[in-house]
Amino acid sequence: MTLVYLNGAYVPYEEALIPVEDRGFLFGDGIYEVVRIYGGRPFALEAHLRRMRRSAAALRLPWPEAAADLPGVIHRLLAENGLQEAMAYLQITRGVAPRAHAFPRSVSPTVLVLTRTVSPLPAEAYEHGVDAITTPDIRWHRADIKTTNLAANVLAKQEAVERGAHEALFVRDGVVIEGSSTNVFAVREGTLITFPLSHLILAGITRAFVLELAREAGYPVCEGPIFLSDLPRLQELFVTGTLSEVLPIVRVDGREIGDGRPGPITRALMQKYRERHEQGDSQGYPKGDLG
Ligand code: PDD
Repeated sequence: MTLVYLNGAYVPYEEALIPVEDRGFLFGDGIYEVVRIYGGRPFALEAHLRRMRRSAAALRLPWPEAAADLPGVIHRLLAENGLQEAMAYLQITRGVAPRAHAFPRSVSPTVLVLTRTVSPLPAEAYEHGVDAITTPDIRWHRADIKTTNLAANVLAKQEAVERGAHEALFVRDGVVIEGSSTNVFAVREGTLITFPLSHLILAGITRAFVLELAREAGYPVCEGPIFLSDLPRLQELFVTGTLSEVLPIVRVDGREIGDGRPGPITRALMQKYRERHEQGDSQGYPKGDLG
């Protein structure tokens, strides 16, 4: 029997039900995190929880009592559900109240934690790279908040799938800023480039790890724009994310990037990121900026 944590109680998955007037359901009025579990241990959990508190504050969601010990909840669920290679999904919504846009006067947030096994992408995806498409960034101007309001991301990813690609890259003002559920890195003239942190992108935890690993390895790094018009001149391109890890992109909108194969910097960072999570100890990491 799979257990789920809902509002302070550990309940069987089938019994973890949410009232129809939950504001997460009605308005997407909530926040979430996805944490990767390697060998039974949550990776970079502290950083995820820090970002979750920041998202809560940005949506003016009071931190609920039921979320006081999320590390304890995750550990108990992993043990009860017997999971090793898995993910934890954490969500907090403003709670249940008759539908009205303004905050309800008195409401108690809904807190959900569920764990499940992950099926990593096939090894070929990392070895040979995958396709991406570009799509206009139609999202609001607070993409730094990890809200459950993901309609634009869902549409972008679906467009990618329907065009035979793995990821959709959002383009704003001629600049590739991030993916539908990933951050984006390019290599141009030997320099690693990724969009700087701002209200326009999510401050990815994998992004921060990769920047740290790149600087340790001595690669020149620039937090700046990846221009759409520069795609033909890029040597390498990859995306990063909790579930994607470091994933090479070898074609965008059907056109090859570099020589159409994962490049040496991408491969090196992929390897270093693997070593990083194989080491296990991720307390206090990544050290870099999470916005
Ligand atoms: N997505 N950008 C967006 C829009 C994202 O949704 C994500 C993560 C990232 C990468 O962030 P991180 O490295 O912290 O996972 C960037 C999660 C995994 C998801 O929605 O499933």
